[in-house]
Amino acid sequence: MITFHQLAKTRRSIRAFTKQNIKKEDVALCVETARFAPSACNSQPWKFVIIDDPLLKDQIAKRVLSGIHKMNYFAVNASVYIALLKEPTKMPAWLGGKVRNTDFHRIDIGIACSHLVLQAQDLGIASCILGWFNERNLKKLLKVPFYKKIELLIALGYAKKIELPKKILKNKNTTMSFNQY
Ligand SMILES: Cc1cc2nc3c(=O)[nH]c(=O)nc-3n(C[C@H](O)[C@H](O)[C@H](O)COP(=O)(O)O)c2cc1C
Repeated sequence: MITFHQLAKTRRSIRAFTKQNIKKEDVALCVETARFAPSACNSQPWKFVIIDDPLLKDQIAKRVLSGIHKMNYFAVNASVYIALLKEPTKMPAWLGGKVRNTDFHRIDIGIACSHLVLQAQDLGIASCILGWFNERNLKKLLKVPFYKKIELLIALGYAKKIELPKKILKNKNTTMSFNQY
């Protein structure tokens, strides 16, 4: 049985996928786990749009991961994309965020995204979070109202290689301390 620490330690952003499709129930479980993520005032300011239609995926490759976003074209072989949208937060979370000069909704969405990719990892599914994509075209393709924000696009699939991509961590002494900065 793999521990949570091992699971988190072996998750990587994967940029080469096989053509194998992910089962619908596995994708559903990833989203279900993300829905349990904590959020400021329990606002749950998110919506997950699952994209598994081959024609739509083809359009995403052509119109969302092309041009200046071409560096993410590798994701075209992903089995599924999940667009993670910002939805309104509850008033106290919004107000608190203003007073604190903090974007609680983005923190919430980041945590939900983390839940999602770690659940995927637990199912043996590889992922890559994409922040760089043509949002305007993606909104058109997914029929998202123009005033909404798609924060992230998550590519899910099966990793082509079994070796883990190398990961260089910052020095522990610079990233943590006890009792003072
Ligand atoms: C908010 C966010 C946006 C990201 N956007 C991209 C992206 O557009 N393209 C990409 O290849 N990787 C993207 N990544 C993945 C990071 O590059 C990756 O997490 C980082 O290099 C650490 O590697 P690891 O995920 O394998 O641990 C993004 C990750 C996060 C959290």
